[in-house]
Parts: sequence; structure tokens; C-alpha cells
Amino acid sequence: MEVIIQRDYQQMSKTAAQIVVEVLNTKPNAVLGMATGSTPLGLYQELVRLHTEEQLDFSRVTTFNLDEYVGLPVNHPQSYHYFMHEHFFRHVDIPRNNINIPSGTTSNYPAFCQWYEKRIEECGGIDLQILGIGSDGHIAFNEPGSSLSSRTRLKTLSKQTIDDNARFFDRRADVPVYAITMGVGTILDAHKLVLVASGSSKAKAVAQAVEGPVTSMVTASALQLHRDAIVIVDEAAAASLTMREYYEFIYAAKPAAPRA
Ligand code: GLP
Repeated sequence: MEVIIQRDYQQMSKTAAQIVVEVLNTKPNAVLGMATGSTPLGLYQELVRLHTEEQLDFSRVTTFNLDEYVGLPVNHPQSYHYFMHEHFFRHVDIPRNNINIPSGTTSNYPAFCQWYEKRIEECGGIDLQILGIGSDGHIAFNEPGSSLSSRTRLKTLSKQTIDDNARFFDRRADVPVYAITMGVGTILDAHKLVLVASGSSKAKAVAQAVEGPVTSMVTASALQLHRDAIVIVDEAAAASLTMREYYEFIYAAKPAAPRA
């Protein structure tokens, strides 16, 4: 696992965007795994800027989103469909048919989940999966206790996640209790992983994920099992890392390291 510590949120976002650019330069028809949450917003803004100002081409890209709330229609302002459209898809040139987001309103979840897994496979797998991290250490909606081999499925949200995400809803009671989410196993199948984390509220989860034991209680710790996982954090999110100097030494010594 590579750990990159950046001075602030903006640098974290730019460094993550550079990794997306490198993937697209190597493979213009790459399959990108997309994440929601407030953390990747800066990364999406930077990608939109690169598209608008520097002609970064998404016209051959295919995307798969990690997750979606169960019960929210696509036009609900808190649905991940809406989020992705607002913050990214409507600003770039990804063909509509190449955009895949789990359905939060299907009548048959098991069949949909199977179809989603098959569709990822048919597209050749995910080249680069973008990830955030929940304050309880989850990736996508793989809450503590999720099998590290899990595939796309329905998941009940933890109390911590419902509390964290309540800020986006009018009332806590409005936060959906279930989500459809790629599994940890699905995520680990991606060829490359980039996890972004910002702010002191993520420091503990980041330290557990990067330096703690691999455990289903912190599903982000599964990144330790991946051959090409990069964790990009700002100063505040790096605060509890014990090997910080070592990560900085490695990054500084790496000639080809992406520097925004
Ligand atoms: C949700 C999403 C995760 C995301 C997490 C953190 O639980 N399912 O993919 O990583 O929120 O979100 P934020 O970046 O807003 O802290």
C-alpha cells in the first residue's frame, strides 16, 4: 500500500485526479469505479476542470458507482444518482449508456446485484476504483462485520453511518436504513484502488485501515490485501499514522510520484 500525505484537501484532490489522468492516458477506454460522499468532491471538481480547460477526454470511459441508498428515486437530491449527475457526469462527456450506478428502487435486489457484478465483468473489470472511507472504517457501504469476500448486495447501515449521513437529510429518520453496495471482494478485484480521506474525523479510521490488522470490523483494512492500493490523505486525516515519516520519505524519493 502506498500512503501519500498532502498538506490540505485541495492537494489531496489534485493528487488523486492526477492518478485518474495517468490511468486515462494509458487506457482512454478505462473502466472507472466512482465513489460518493463529500470527500471525492474536490477530485471530481479537478477532473471537470481538466476536462473543460485541458480537454481530458472521458468519451470512451465506462463507470461503475460503488453504492446507492435503497428507496431513493434517482431524482432524490440525496440519492447517489443525483449526486453523481450534479457533481460529475453532467460536466463531462461520458456516454450515458456507459454510466452504471446501482439501483435503489429495483423490485428484485438479488437479481440486480448479480446483474451488476456480471456487467462489471463484461466490461473487463474496473481499472481504477476511487474510494472514500466512513468514520467507522467502511468502504462503499461495507459496514463493520462485512465479509472481506463479499460481492454486490443489500446492506443494513450502521448507527454510526446513519448518524454521519444525517447531516445531508432534513431529519435523521429520513436517512435510508438499507443500501445496495459493491462488496469488499468486488472492490478488491479492481486493478488499482485510490482511497481519499480528509479531516480529523477520519484520522482514526485511516490509521486502523492502513496500520491496523486486516479485519472485517474495518473493511478499509482490506486494502492491505491489494497489490496496487494508494491512500491519499491530508494532514488532519494523517494525524494518527505512526509510520508517517516513512511514508513521506518514500513519496519524496519516488521520481515518478504524481505531484499536483
Ligand atoms: C458513505 C459512502 C462512502 C463514503 C462515506 C464517507 O458512507 N457510502 O462511499 O466513503 O460515506 O463520506 P464522506 O466523504 O462524506 O465522509
